[in-house]
Amino acid sequence: MNFWTNLKKPILVQAPMEDATDTVFRQMLVKFGSPDVFFTEFTSVDGLLSKGKNIVSQRLRFTKKEHPIVGQIWGNNPQNFAAVTNMLVSMGFDGIDINMGCPDRDVMKKECGARLIENHTLAREIISAVKKEAKNLPISIKTRLGVKTVQTKDWINFLLTLPIDAIIIHGRTAKELSKVPAHWEEIGSAVYIRNQKKSQTLIIGNGDVSSFDDAQKKATQYGVDGVMIGRAMFDNPWIFNNKIDPAKIPLEEKLAYLLTHLRLFQKTWGKEKYFGSLKKLYKMYIANTPGASELRSKLVRLGTIEETVSYLEKCFL
Ligand SMILES: Cc1cc2nc3c(=O)[nH]c(=O)nc-3n(C[C@H](O)[C@H](O)[C@H](O)COP(=O)(O)O)c2cc1C
Repeated sequence: MNFWTNLKKPILVQAPMEDATDTVFRQMLVKFGSPDVFFTEFTSVDGLLSKGKNIVSQRLRFTKKEHPIVGQIWGNNPQNFAAVTNMLVSMGFDGIDINMGCPDRDVMKKECGARLIENHTLAREIISAVKKEAKNLPISIKTRLGVKTVQTKDWINFLLTLPIDAIIIHGRTAKELSKVPAHWEEIGSAVYIRNQKKSQTLIIGNGDVSSFDDAQKKATQYGVDGVMIGRAMFDNPWIFNNKIDPAKIPLEEKLAYLLTHLRLFQKTWGKEKYFGSLKKLYKMYIANTPGASELRSKLVRLGTIEETVSYLEKCFL
């Protein structure tokens, strides 16, 4: 079943973010206001078929609260994509996303991620391998506008010849990383191309969306079917819920959420995963709160999750 077509537009999508948006993060989003679609962190198909698969597959863990959920995979070997697609289908994912946008040098060197924008033959083989195994699950591609230069017309025209249900466009080239403002007018051009071709493929825009209202505004202005939100979730995890103003939530309540987040991390991962990656998420709960910067610098200096939990518990005594 293609869940994308059942969602009300504009569709609000949680961006995949490595080392941040794991199942624990996503379960916290559920408490604050769920996006319309969840994404896993990007997961290597080769890694999932290697000896280290147990660690790699942590990225694919999810609970029944996180639906619809799309598993994002990356690699360069169509057979491995096919094998992993099979795995994702049996794990209960609602959709499969192929990463064709990662600008990391090591990833691109291996002909993966954004490099596929310039290798249409391999991109086609990968998509067709995934399509064959995906049963009736929808397939999406998360991509950029080009590698060194903007190639919207060529790339989107090419993708629209393939059996893809949604294209998520981060409005920058790989070379631009996140260093320039996203070129939303290019995302608008992709929508124009799609409309001219009368294609049913959805276009989701991504890049620099700062709030719920900004998402609505960009969807209207550029005609996209939906908007994906990444870094703004770190400033405001209530971003998918337009009924809550985080500025009105008292610090105590936010700290209680941070404590819940830490405890859920402990319960979910135990010793499986180092808690250091959580430190960058403290600002979700403490940013822009008067008097909280001292507390944050204290928290980031604590060396273990147990110490951090007990420090916060004392705050509530
Ligand atoms: C820390 C971090 C990790 C990311 N990890 C992924 C990833 O695993 N897969 C992916 O497709 N994009 C990844 N991205 C890119 C985001 O999904 C998104 O495209 C980008 O941040 C632009 O959106 P934003 O301006 O709303 O943040 C990552 C970005 C950041 C900052």
